[in-house]
Amino acid sequence: MSTLADDSPSSTSPSPSAPRGGPIASATGDPCVLVIFGASGDLTRRLLLPALYHLACDGLLSGKFAIVGMAMDDWTTEAFRQRMAAQVRQFTTRTPFDEQVWNDFVDRLHYVPGKFTDAAAFERLRTVVSGLDAKLGCGGNVLFYMATPPSVFGMVSNALHSAGFDRLGEGWKRVIVEKPFGHDLASAAALNREMLKFWREDQIYRIDHYLGKETVQNLMAFRFSNGMFEPLWNRNYVDHIQFTVDESVGVEARGSYYETSGVLRDMIQNHMFQMLAYLCMEPPVSFAADAVRNEKAKLLDAVRIMTPEQVRTNTVRGQYGPGRGTDGAPLAGYRQEPNVSPTSGTETFAAIKLNIDNWRWDGVPVYLRSGKRLWKRGTEIVVQFKRAPDVLFRNTEVDSIEHNRLIFHMQPDQGIELRFHAKVPGPALRLQNVNMHFAYGDAFKASRAIGYEVLVYNCMIGDATLFSRTDLVEGAWRIAQPLLDYWSSTPPTDFPNYEAGSWGPKAAFDMLEDDKRRWVEIINRDVMERVPLFAGSDPSFLNSLLMILEPDVFEPGDFIVREGDSADAMFFIARGAVEVIDASGERVKELGVGDFFGEIGMLSSKPRNASVRAITQTDVFLLKRTDFNKVLAQHPSFAESVERIARERYRAPEAS
Ligand code: NDP
Ligand code: BG6
Repeated sequence: MSTLADDSPSSTSPSPSAPRGGPIASATGDPCVLVIFGASGDLTRRLLLPALYHLACDGLLSGKFAIVGMAMDDWTTEAFRQRMAAQVRQFTTRTPFDEQVWNDFVDRLHYVPGKFTDAAAFERLRTVVSGLDAKLGCGGNVLFYMATPPSVFGMVSNALHSAGFDRLGEGWKRVIVEKPFGHDLASAAALNREMLKFWREDQIYRIDHYLGKETVQNLMAFRFSNGMFEPLWNRNYVDHIQFTVDESVGVEARGSYYETSGVLRDMIQNHMFQMLAYLCMEPPVSFAADAVRNEKAKLLDAVRIMTPEQVRTNTVRGQYGPGRGTDGAPLAGYRQEPNVSPTSGTETFAAIKLNIDNWRWDGVPVYLRSGKRLWKRGTEIVVQFKRAPDVLFRNTEVDSIEHNRLIFHMQPDQGIELRFHAKVPGPALRLQNVNMHFAYGDAFKASRAIGYEVLVYNCMIGDATLFSRTDLVEGAWRIAQPLLDYWSSTPPTDFPNYEAGSWGPKAAFDMLEDDKRRWVEIINRDVMERVPLFAGSDPSFLNSLLMILEPDVFEPGDFIVREGDSADAMFFIARGAVEVIDASGERVKELGVGDFFGEIGMLSSKPRNASVRAITQTDVFLLKRTDFNKVLAQHPSFAESVERIARERYRAPEAS
């Protein structure tokens, strides 16, 4: 039975202020008092208050609006205002700072000190909130924001009830709760039960900040407002889907939290499964919150729950060890980070292969990977289409037909890219991979948002579309639970298994190779320019290379090339070091970042004349024979450089 029930409509009928098609951009949020529990915390100062200030800048807050912060710190309202004045200036993403907006905004800030166990503090809070409500005319609308650890959500809800907040006027009462929502399936279900003791489902707004990102929201807009892709969005045309969330940061100061979490709980179970749901769900009947959330829930329900054996074969875990950043600076390993056990078994990287058992996606694997301390920051989704038949191209110069790819660049680059074939100009029929690229920055002039703006605003107008529901949260945990169980029963023996600053563990690359696929590594021109051979090259040449180079990872001692093997690729070292070993087993050369090897066999069409072995973890871009031939034919200056270097290095025969 809900004890903080209000007079707002139930979840089956959206709030009058929440239109079925989503919010109206120009309307302000409903009048309300926003109570922030945990107002002295990191989230409040870094994300929440700056986002509220942005809403004020955009005129999206009602004139009848106030904020009351509560935390243990013994501050006055004046001290709270002064702190927030400094913090918002520091963390706002907008310049210049709008003093006029701020002066009005800061007067709306209030503070009540107190512990969440202190009934008297909640009495004081109620007096302040009712006073503001009456003074401003908020109609009894109160939005509670739990910017606290989840362990106190129940405690705060209970205290609110005891203090009689449910008897505070007529208006709506809503609560925003922060992640993590549970630690596993059982704890998430328990937390849901606890919250539902005090609140109705339609009053609870569970935040996932990825749903506040424009590029994530655009997944639905892109799919359902464009007629051209939806007919292809199924097992008949899609070969597989990849989700990548690479982070270059480590765990920073969050070691104690991360030790109890790991990347599966921290990123995959929540943010990545939300993106998966948007990308793969069926079209909802409308944009009403429950219509969308029903489809997301159905999609998560259709994800195959793995057996322990499937977890063993379809997942890879990793933990970063010491390494170096792209600038060469040393980076600590995870076990050396503050508040991390020196023998920690927590995974900082995971790659997972999922199957969706429904009509649309049967047989289309979905690969997800995420990790900390990788070589770059980048979130991308790749939809790889099935290959076109190559019958027409037999007996032409075209020796391979590649997959078309639709790539959603989510962050930091924001855009959508389509990769396809085009004919290379000239009399012969030759194909090359080319791309069309839409960049948000070219099309729109929007101020950079934090992501919390849209979430808080939507809650203020009663639109729950971007928030998670009990069944969605539990559905996502249901998928993750077998991984948590298997991983905890089989502690990793090879951690750390990737170097800080690298592309991640080799096993993640092997997992796709076993399926005859590869991760699509999104590289940009800056990365290419670091390879001396490419520095200063023609942009069209670099652009074509960006699309054909394929990533691979080797562990120390792995042979990348073996003497006597036939040559099918050449390699560019993005990271690490290798040794070149001649037929007598002598090390004849060491190669490092920016060097390349494997070109002799490609130029001469003879078997490899030496072996190449990784000395450290080595990340390479490989250029397959078919692409190599195309590049040589189309870019004579590149061909000339490779041939010259090859001759100098190995006294190789001139390529015919
Ligand atoms: P902090 O530890 O920085 O802040 C927690 C806040 O809760 C502090 O104001 C603290 O008060 C208050 N608090 C905790 N227990 C009590 C209590 N018993 N009585 C009164 N006040 C209490 O955490 P964050 O701000 O970083 O995180 C808050 C929530 O937001 C978490 O659920 C986190 O997972 C989530 N989150 C945080 C993000 C971030 O970037 N920080 C990003 C996404 C989600 P005091 O300082 O006085 O102890
Ligand atoms: C948070 C995780 O939810 O998301 C962090 O707790 C992670 O570990 C962050 O770094 C990533 O968010 P974003 O928006 O930077 O991709």
